[in-house]
Amino acid sequence: PVTVYRNKQVASVKVAERIADLIRDKQARGEKAVLGLATGATPVGVYEELVRLHREEGLSFQNVVTFNLDEYYPMHPTSPQSYVTFMNENLFDHIDIEQENVHIPDGTLAPDEVAAFCLNYERQIEAHGGLDLQLLGIGRTGHVGFNEPGSAPNSGTRLVTLDDLTRRDASRDFGGKENVPTKAITMGIGTIFKAHEIVLLAWSGKKAPIVKKAVEGEVSSEVPATYLQLADNVEFVLDEDAAAELT
Ligand code: F6R
Repeated sequence: PVTVYRNKQVASVKVAERIADLIRDKQARGEKAVLGLATGATPVGVYEELVRLHREEGLSFQNVVTFNLDEYYPMHPTSPQSYVTFMNENLFDHIDIEQENVHIPDGTLAPDEVAAFCLNYERQIEAHGGLDLQLLGIGRTGHVGFNEPGSAPNSGTRLVTLDDLTRRDASRDFGGKENVPTKAITMGIGTIFKAHEIVLLAWSGKKAPIVKKAVEGEVSSEVPATYLQLADNVEFVLDEDAAAELT
């Protein structure tokens, strides 16, 4: 289903409430909530609201385990462009999550360590009972995570090559496209599909053409987000501008 909100602020608060409800439900049952998280501009408002709920309304993250979708490769965690830095600045530094419960793909691995790391990432997710909720953004190539065009529907966590458009879109953060890594480690489409709930967020008219393809286009590896049409537990959460081209 598709849910359209007036603007991204209202939508972000709704999604944060949904995540908070999940965390509290699990807490009441003495269980952990396992969250799949995204970086980039899109989820920032959701994280802001989660931080507010922690500070002002006592929402605790002690029972929360997180797995991030992706990380550039190579990438040092302390680099300003790393997704570790992004997550610390936007969420983890401001809540009471245990460091040992945070998982982000490791951008410092030697090439011959990557495959084993990726398998283990999948195993760790499974060992926690799978992802309860996976948050997604969408790139203008139609990527979710860094599953660029050509990604297989059953793909797992792996090393991928970034699309030229994705690197151009990231060039501002890196001070030029030539500084954007050419590769990344990402959860696969198959990994994302195993989540109990999937919530894809998209804001602004810049995303309207790719949102139309993702929601209404033919399912194809050319636009990996179209695979989500085949999931029965997915919600597309949009602002009015991102939904503008939907029929
Ligand atoms: C980030 C990720 C990417 C982004 C997408 C949109 O972890 O996996 O798929 O969600 O590139 O990025 P923004 O939100 O910056 O438009």
